Amino acid sequence: MRIAVVGSGYVGLVTGTCFADMGHEVLLVDNNDQKLAELGSGDVPIHERFLPELLARHRGKKIKFSNDLQAAVRACDAIFIAVGTPATDRGDADLSYVESVAREIAGAVDSYKIVVEKSTVPVYTSQWIRTVIIRNGANPASFDLASNPEFLREGTAVTDFLYPDRIVVGVESDRCAQVLREIYAPLTSGDYYSRADAIPRPDRAQIPPRLIITSTRSAELIKHASNAFLAMKISFINAVASICESVGANVQQVCDGIGSDSRIGPRFLNPGIGYGGSCFPKDLMAFRAVAKECGYDFRLLDEVMRINEDQRHRFLKKVRSVLWTLRGKRLGVLGLAFKGGTDDIRESPAILLVQELLREGCHICAHDPAAMDRAKEVLPASVEYTSGPYEAATGADALLILTEWEEFAGLELDRLRNLLKYPIVIDGRNLYDPAVMSAHGFSYYSVGRPETLTEDSTAAVRPDKRHIF
Ligand SMILES: NC(=O)c1ccc[n+]([C@@H]2O[C@H](COP(=O)([O-])OP(=O)(O)OC[C@H]3O[C@@H](n4cnc5c(N)ncnc54)[C@H](O)[C@@H]3O)[C@@H](O)[C@H]2O)c1
Repeated sequence: MRIAVVGSGYVGLVTGTCFADMGHEVLLVDNNDQKLAELGSGDVPIHERFLPELLARHRGKKIKFSNDLQAAVRACDAIFIAVGTPATDRGDADLSYVESVAREIAGAVDSYKIVVEKSTVPVYTSQWIRTVIIRNGANPASFDLASNPEFLREGTAVTDFLYPDRIVVGVESDRCAQVLREIYAPLTSGDYYSRADAIPRPDRAQIPPRLIITSTRSAELIKHASNAFLAMKISFINAVASICESVGANVQQVCDGIGSDSRIGPRFLNPGIGYGGSCFPKDLMAFRAVAKECGYDFRLLDEVMRINEDQRHRFLKKVRSVLWTLRGKRLGVLGLAFKGGTDDIRESPAILLVQELLREGCHICAHDPAAMDRAKEVLPASVEYTSGPYEAATGADALLILTEWEEFAGLELDRLRNLLKYPIVIDGRNLYDPAVMSAHGFSYYSVGRPETLTEDSTAAVRPDKRHIF
């Protein structure tokens, strides 16, 4: 099929590239000419596994780049809208980018098209897009609106797209459903997976994936409700982790115990410094706002957001209580991205923590395998960036782990201990086993698990160990 994808950001670029790999002809449209020039010249603007290979495979052949939305609409059967839907100051979703795309599409609908929301949008948005397209001159019979929310996770975006847990398609007509069935047929039929050059199958993938067809409203709600539920899972286990710290329990053991209940499941029970990124924070606020508009006061979501924010404050408190005073302290920081596997720093808890530590007068030596360039755009010039994790640790009063990169989970512990000024690791992502850290001579602090203390560091920097939380 001929598909236009509007917006070549995280979702648009991955969607377009994967559609090309599934055999479709893709036109990737953006209004940012610099981005298009970079894409056209072979750059890959985001750090995402398999994306460079797939772009190299299809660039200029099955995927082309353009700034001409109307020409793309005329040339294609399906137009996927994947532009940003950031939060407004009031917390609801800013749909002005979606609206401007809809307006432009209207003038170019010259034969039957389907217009598909890929962006995460509040319920009723597809109806609004339809209204805008009609108001701007399109014949109501010449197009259908669909909602096809995207569930990819940054860091594993390509694999998530090609091996999804499910594909949700919200439609109002059989004709439109049929077009979307065809678009996803390479996955739902299993054909894609039998190809020798298919992207490798991840461990948990169920193939072929299930195609769930719903109304557009249900599809819109599925996306917001999914993100809200996942964020709730994180905040729930973070709240439990706080209780674990108070009573000396181990949240890892608690996760094991509750996660083995098949109704709960172990995934996403990840205690740490909280969720961030470009989706959960804004989608929760948008869902909260949309619920309010519909007359439902969804206060549970307020609490999910409050716990998430509190988690960062608790971590800061922990750093303070371990190091006593912060002014002038040199801190090694591992991780700036909002999660491992990506260079995205939007709403990254790591960035927010670094900013707070800088305000308190710390000197920060940071390393991130992918996000340092982006971090430089938002952090003050005083932050030192290092070529690796050991360099960040060298001479530091303590090492902070803020992003769960795989690269940080297997450090040579003896080497690390020797490089640090004091053998103190404060781990906001629970990457290490406290017993192992203790055996290697570290004072090790993590989230929701008992601390391990070496006599030296306790005596040197932490006289008031108890009753701090
Ligand atoms: N990033 C994720 O992990 C993720 C996952 C699922 C869903 N989503 C949702 O997908 C949507 C897009 O997110 P993203 O992270 O890809 O955003 P992004 O900010 O990375 O990309 C948006 C792109 O749209 C382009 N754009 C804006 N207005 C345009 C216009 N009028 N014409 C053409 N291009 C235009 C921008 O230049 C940019 O390249 C959001 O609604 C988001 O919530 C994101």
